[in-house]
Amino acid sequence: MSNPVDRPPSHLFYQTRQRRPLLDRGEGIYLYAEDGRRFLDGSSGAMVANIGHGNRAVLDAMKAQMDKATFGYRLHFENAPAEELAARTARRMPDGLDRVFFVSGGSEAVESCIKLARQWAIATGAGQRYKVISRFPSYHGSTLGALALTGMATMSQPFAPMMQEMPKIPAPTCYLDRDDLSDEARGLRYAEALRDCILREGPETVLAFIVEPIGGASTGALVPPDSYLPRIREICDEFGILLIFDEVMTGAGRTGAFLGADHWPAAKPDIVSLSKGFAAGYAPLGAMVADRAVVEPVLDAGGFIHGYTYAGNPLACAAGLAVLDEIERNDLVGNAARMGEALRTRLEALKDRYPFIGDVRGRGLLLAFELVADRETMAPLPTALNAHVELVEAAYARELIIYSRRTRGGIAGDHFMVCPPLIIDEAGLDELANKLDDALAAFAAANDLPTAA
Ligand SMILES: Cc1ncc(COP(=O)(O)O)c(C=O)c1O
Repeated sequence: MSNPVDRPPSHLFYQTRQRRPLLDRGEGIYLYAEDGRRFLDGSSGAMVANIGHGNRAVLDAMKAQMDKATFGYRLHFENAPAEELAARTARRMPDGLDRVFFVSGGSEAVESCIKLARQWAIATGAGQRYKVISRFPSYHGSTLGALALTGMATMSQPFAPMMQEMPKIPAPTCYLDRDDLSDEARGLRYAEALRDCILREGPETVLAFIVEPIGGASTGALVPPDSYLPRIREICDEFGILLIFDEVMTGAGRTGAFLGADHWPAAKPDIVSLSKGFAAGYAPLGAMVADRAVVEPVLDAGGFIHGYTYAGNPLACAAGLAVLDEIERNDLVGNAARMGEALRTRLEALKDRYPFIGDVRGRGLLLAFELVADRETMAPLPTALNAHVELVEAAYARELIIYSRRTRGGIAGDHFMVCPPLIIDEAGLDELANKLDDALAAFAAANDLPTAA
């Protein structure tokens, strides 16, 4: 792999042996390495740092909470930051979703959603319901329950014997379809795949459908046609199935609305998962927010059999509250919409220059572009090119961070998330686009790929 780092061996390990420079500090849209390099955080880490790095107001609020208490176990004490954050979060949700359960991350949030759904079914006399249908490709987390929902064979296959994999339907990848239908008609066709799946599985066994309203890293910011989610809602209602929106990445303003769900009011979810931008990297925090009609029967029937030690941690919740203040005070949701349009224009200009960019997609500042060998057929680049690694490294060498995945179910295709912090301005976008342009030019030259004159 390019970009080697000359550092001594470490006791730490994650996915691979790849090393990265030591982080020194973060400021706004930039991260500084100990060696003095300044990186533009073009993906907000893993679509996390929505309000930018080193926000003084958030750090001050966290320090004030640290001076009071950093931990109080929820069975022994309630705490004011958790109470207030639950109330403020509920106010930003669709009607009825006003019961909040805090966790420490996205996978925990998703686990909580499906376990609450299951207990709701038991509490309402439908204990035969246990299947949670999801999409392919999709990403819902790495713990075994969330992984069973994740539609990415490369990630789940080794663990298949250890879990009960859940039924999948195709994600609405309309940009790959070569038929005569309109996108709206295609949206309805993809939604019908849920109905077919429910009938195939036996409606009485199906508990819920979980969906990223706008796709994240697994699909590269896939936006469904406007017809899709409202029809999904109708189908769930037809069979008494809960609709779960996994808003771990889309939530807290990233798409130019507080929730992805807000783009389609006719498709109100029953349960929502949040994390990432919710505390924006200042503390490990996530939440499940559920309709009271789902929660109350569970509490009436004896309680929710689920919980994590750090749930409702006062320090994490103080960070979450201060992040929410910053989002509201600086209209970062509006800025995500405005800067999202401006960034999309710049990405479209790069698409005009580089014929191997096949698609630019997304909403707000959840944007991505996909590389292809041929725009007509949308055939991916040869997998051996390892474009999803090589272009990220070319950008990294130019001190720009972007985030990539294999597009087609984790096996082929290459897409790149371009998702800077929601505080970015036009000058930041210019710098990002120029660095990306340089990286694409270097990648094209290294692989003999054509560029437009
Ligand atoms: C939509 C979605 N759900 C769940 C998760 C899992 O979150 P975490 O990595 O915090 O466990 C992610 C992470 O990328 C995600 O994008």
